[in-house]
Amino acid sequence: MMKTPRHLLPWVLSLTVFLGVAPLTPAAESGPPRERLLLDFAWKFHLGNDWGTGEDLAKAGSSGGPAKRDFADTGWRTVNLPHDWAIELPFDSHADGSHGFKPVGPGYPENSVGWYRRSFDLPKEDTGKRIWLEFDGAYRDSRVFVNGYFVGHHESGYTSFRYDITDLMNCGGKNTVAVRVDASQFEGWFYEGAGIYRHVWLVKTAPVAVVPDGVFVYSSFAGSEPVAKAEIHAEARLHNSRPEETAARVQFEILDAKGQSVARGERAARLAAEADTTAAALIPLRSPVLWSPEHPVLYRLVTTVELGTVVTDRIETEFGVRTTDFDATRGFLLNGQPYVLKGTCNHQDHAGVGAALPDHLQWFRISRLKEMGGNAYRTSHNPPTPELLEACDHLGMLVMDENRLLGSDAANLARLEGLVRRDRNHASVGIWSIANEEGVQTTPTGGRVAETMQNLVHRLDPTRRVTMAANTGNDFGGLNRIIDVRGWNYNIGRGTDDYHAAHPLQPNVGTEQASTVCTRGIYANDQEKGYVSAYDDNAPPWAHTTETWWKFFSARPWLSGGFAWTGFDYRGEPTPYSWPCINSHFGIVDTCGFPKDNFYYYQAWWGDRPLAHLLPHWNWAGHEGQEIDVRCFANGDEAELFLNGTSLGRKTIEKNSHARWKVNYAPGTLAVKSFRSGQPVAEDKVETTGAPAAVRLTPDRPAIRADGEEVSVITAAVVDAQGRVVPLAGNLLHFELQGPGRILGVGNGDPSSHEADLYVTKPAVRSLPLNEWRMKEVGNPKNSPETAVGVEDTQWRKVDTRVGEGPLRPGRSAVFRANLNITAEDLQSREITLSAGMIDDEGWLYVNGQFAGEAHDWSSSPSFPIRRFLREGQNTLAFAIQNREGAGGPNKGVTVEFQTKPAEVDWRRSAFNGLAQIIIQGAKEPGTLALTARAEGLSEAKLALPAEKCVPRPAVN
Ligand code: GAL
Repeated sequence: MMKTPRHLLPWVLSLTVFLGVAPLTPAAESGPPRERLLLDFAWKFHLGNDWGTGEDLAKAGSSGGPAKRDFADTGWRTVNLPHDWAIELPFDSHADGSHGFKPVGPGYPENSVGWYRRSFDLPKEDTGKRIWLEFDGAYRDSRVFVNGYFVGHHESGYTSFRYDITDLMNCGGKNTVAVRVDASQFEGWFYEGAGIYRHVWLVKTAPVAVVPDGVFVYSSFAGSEPVAKAEIHAEARLHNSRPEETAARVQFEILDAKGQSVARGERAARLAAEADTTAAALIPLRSPVLWSPEHPVLYRLVTTVELGTVVTDRIETEFGVRTTDFDATRGFLLNGQPYVLKGTCNHQDHAGVGAALPDHLQWFRISRLKEMGGNAYRTSHNPPTPELLEACDHLGMLVMDENRLLGSDAANLARLEGLVRRDRNHASVGIWSIANEEGVQTTPTGGRVAETMQNLVHRLDPTRRVTMAANTGNDFGGLNRIIDVRGWNYNIGRGTDDYHAAHPLQPNVGTEQASTVCTRGIYANDQEKGYVSAYDDNAPPWAHTTETWWKFFSARPWLSGGFAWTGFDYRGEPTPYSWPCINSHFGIVDTCGFPKDNFYYYQAWWGDRPLAHLLPHWNWAGHEGQEIDVRCFANGDEAELFLNGTSLGRKTIEKNSHARWKVNYAPGTLAVKSFRSGQPVAEDKVETTGAPAAVRLTPDRPAIRADGEEVSVITAAVVDAQGRVVPLAGNLLHFELQGPGRILGVGNGDPSSHEADLYVTKPAVRSLPLNEWRMKEVGNPKNSPETAVGVEDTQWRKVDTRVGEGPLRPGRSAVFRANLNITAEDLQSREITLSAGMIDDEGWLYVNGQFAGEAHDWSSSPSFPIRRFLREGQNTLAFAIQNREGAGGPNKGVTVEFQTKPAEVDWRRSAFNGLAQIIIQGAKEPGTLALTARAEGLSEAKLALPAEKCVPRPAVN
């Protein structure tokens, strides 16, 4: 890892920088060898701590259990990544409530270790390439094995990690990756998921190539304001894995948003043998288009490495031209101008899928927060997956990118360094946060640790400031004393102003604020059910209502704005209640992203579109004549309310506030009009609906790409005969999907629902032990006539294959035969597998005289798919085995496994206050995804969603 301060980097001897629009001419016709392949599909998964850690500390390449190359995983479930097994577990009232009452982690060893396995072929042509296995993140404590070799142990559940697996690759044959993930320990105090819950990649490069996260690009301007000309700082760290020094040319080309070449720079570099070298250039870019959340314009830096006439690497890096800073008086500055941060804190957690978010769901969530008027996102309290930042770069969302744990020990600094190197090119990242609410934040030691961390961040990234989310008030001890930007978690009031007065040169930001607790569509607290009213009235003792915090912050520009806790509800932390509540009430939208009423407060005061929103709903049968608390969020200066056409009066609305009436309930229509300077600008109404009559399905997009990854987020609404959502409907909905795709998960935002988020289809496996064999010694075992059908073997020697040592002496060979009776029903199995505990040493399998597979590693437990060789009735199995040394043969038991079709699943979820969500994902095959939603007594809904042909991103087959 590079630790050299950037200004000491070996700068160019002969740096040539010039502007130009001519495209680079590729030096090699075939193109550079870098490939980045998604390794997400068709992993085998097993939950259970059945084999220890898999590591063998005595001998290389001899890892045990599922880490063995030929371990039989045929009975395991097939899963695609991202995958979170915690979400699959039932709720348990004894489990940790802050983690969402899932029986995983401390106290649940049986549910806390999972194994993943994936095999793939590599072509012979990959020989000589460098090959990396990259994980965006796995929760947590993972051990990775490749072809039986242990390659690494990574504890953090939130940082990305990678291994150079070049030496272990079998180019021209099969390779197997096994990953043991251990979620026995928590890292946070919120739902964290379990498993490989982010993407995995296989990366191939030439021996001379840019190192992982080796490109750094940023922009600066001569003055503090971005005008006329940007200086683009581009650097690439190269690795020469060859044993001789070599001369390389590095070209940097900048492409604008349309892909036009707009500027270039290049430099020559001497690359020392088996070492890293950095090449850097300063490239002027005239009249750049600046990135902002409102105009998220991205450039691309294309870095090309050439050795003579051969291009050995080409890598594209997206970046934005913009500046960020924090000013003690003016607050946050974007492109030199004060810019109020309208932010939310969020965890990686969504209805239906838990922590395993497909990329599209990140885009869905960021879009929802933008729709609310949000322009900033804090990745509380951990590094995000890189795909979240991609969504923020493209959609326009500033990010407070947060480190998990305070610490200046080597491991914590390495994690922080990895985070900054990985994320520093992202246009969206506006500030780093090194920690959240650490107990030691006020101590001198905490301050020293933070200073070391902050210095490291400054060395790696000269463009951004650092904060820490401190839940202290007017306290200048420890961390607050050294930090670039004072972070404020709650603790606002008089002390905030006093702090600013005492430390007028230190910038500030609201790292974590608000925390209204509320449940979507509920208008009275109900402790038994675990619901909190959606009026903006309830906040825990340390927190504030939406209006309180935002009025305070918007009156103090020096605070820079801030981040509300939270944008989305998340599992765990069911404050103010506990069981049966399993998720938080802090969200401005629920776990599905369905808006609670406060969403419209933010939309009114964070956005610029005229808006009026009325609450509560108007279905109060049985409450006729009783007083109802009616409120309106609107960004006009007045609002007038009408009940069934009769005006109930006009009220003034102050900035960042709301209007409120007491209304005697009568069914019908309650409407509001909002005015600006006397002119009507917006209106809203709530109507008393009829009884539930039908289900309605609405997708978030009209079509999806058939790339095996994209999802459609579909709202299922229970509506009355006039198509109006019935606000209290809780009908149980059943979903059925046909076509090339699958249902990923279902949700409804109910913080107390214990219904399943997803239904797992486990393959049913029936095992048949087959241990009575007959053997006859032969000379040459392979293709021996004794393996044929119809050979008379009744007089052969009987052997029991359950023993630990086989009957063959050193240097001897034999054929072992057994009969297998197969019924017509057996043949309906998806697969039939023959598994042997051990084949010692070389073995060839014949089924009904046909060659069905071979095994050459006595230490593995090979398995052979044999269904296609079988027929109804009597079948002949024959192993031809050659023993080299010791006692040989088939031993440690032989079994035949029949995998039956998974049972049909009844996908279902109740609506919560009229709504439910269903997330469906397309396969790689185009077609129509036909979704049906049914509920007893209601008209069913049908939705046909096209999955369109596309070029999926490159993936490992
Ligand atoms: C904060 C903390 C958050 C969350 C929140 C609940 O103090 O940073 O992670 O626990 O309280 O209100």
